[in-house]
Amino acid sequence: MATIYEEMRAEELDAAIAELEAEVEKTKARGLALDMARGKPSPAQVDISRPMLDLISSGADLTDEGVDCSNYGCFEGIPSARRLAGEFIGVPPEQTIVLGSSSLNIMQSILIHYWEKGVPGYTPWSKVDHVKFLCPSPGYDRHFGITADLGIENIPVRMTEDGPDMDEVERLCASDDSIKGMFCVPKYSNPTGITYSDETVRRLATMQAAPDFRIVWDNAYAVHDFTDTPDELANIFDYAREAGNEDRILGVASTSKITFPGAGVAFFGSSPANVAEVASTLKVGLISANKLNQLMHTRFLPDLAAVRAHMRKHAEFLRPRFAAVERRLEEGLGGTGCATWTHPHGGYFVSFDGPEGSAKRVAALCAEMGVKLTPAGATWPYGKDPHDTNIRIAPTYPTVEELEAALDVLVLAVKLVSAQLVREARG
Ligand SMILES: Cc1ncc(COP(=O)(O)O)c(C=O)c1O
Repeated sequence: MATIYEEMRAEELDAAIAELEAEVEKTKARGLALDMARGKPSPAQVDISRPMLDLISSGADLTDEGVDCSNYGCFEGIPSARRLAGEFIGVPPEQTIVLGSSSLNIMQSILIHYWEKGVPGYTPWSKVDHVKFLCPSPGYDRHFGITADLGIENIPVRMTEDGPDMDEVERLCASDDSIKGMFCVPKYSNPTGITYSDETVRRLATMQAAPDFRIVWDNAYAVHDFTDTPDELANIFDYAREAGNEDRILGVASTSKITFPGAGVAFFGSSPANVAEVASTLKVGLISANKLNQLMHTRFLPDLAAVRAHMRKHAEFLRPRFAAVERRLEEGLGGTGCATWTHPHGGYFVSFDGPEGSAKRVAALCAEMGVKLTPAGATWPYGKDPHDTNIRIAPTYPTVEELEAALDVLVLAVKLVSAQLVREARG
């Protein structure tokens, strides 16, 4: 679809640009300082988990089903927490480990484990010539950072409405044994907010790939619904088990965006063999995780039903923010042909695409007008968005009023850059 600026005659375009430039100058003079870069809950949203802090005090019973949480022991996690982990990841509790507060940390530890020791029976990845990982993009920059840090080559695979482009994923994995893994955020993906279709989940679990190929199944937004029509995600372990590929799936999740970011509990779940293998390495450096934190969490959120009830409270904060994004973008850019954006039913982000070659300029112009965005390009491996279109919108932290002001600035920047690009292309 042509943009409104492409359809303008030269004089009209000049006039539109002059008007937009004047608006930009006026906005700069307002001295705004707004931030739409942070994928974290607002302070008031975090506060809804404060009652959890009262559940453990000096007089509290510190045992969980016979396990003393106040002392060393029970490396895999306390029974109630492993049960919850099993519900999150979709495996029996015995196939889980409950660790510290960060799922990202678990992912890094596991990939370092394979890097150094390899999947049992196979060459350590560090000794394999040119290891590669598939990175559905736009995706989560911190995933890409783990593999880049190890010297693994990140290969972008385009995201679709149903998940990663599976024809491409299957083609690459079937033809190249040096592709050792892939990152997936299967529900309310960061940043597109889409949920993988059943067919995508089945194909990932059953496709042909290197025998030591691993999928990091990061279900960070497993329960983060905010509409009455939440997305449903198929259980990948069911498909993988049937196909004899259970070892392929490394499930992780955490309560970072359920209780306290950075102070929640993190879950790992996989095949019995993988859990034993990962535990054997992690045990070298950890006697036991913070079981008091686990206990506090499961007293607050004993099961998935309790988690869902708590998430409904979170949704009260998120729904108006996501509605504001939709409203302001539609009002500002709907029908202009300058942009598309996603309409998630949950999660923490909206993925926004402007014209080719616009994203970096839009982010810079927003910064000049006092609005900080996630750096353009961050959603692609090595920060290289091949078409320079994508911007991740993180609407959760600002107030609705701040968010609306920030979105108006984004709309203005997208319009001006879109118009300038047309004029530049005409020469
Ligand atoms: C997809 C995804 N995975 C993991 C994390 C970080 O989780 P944790 O706090 O458990 O390390 C985030 C945080 O934004 C995320 O978006």
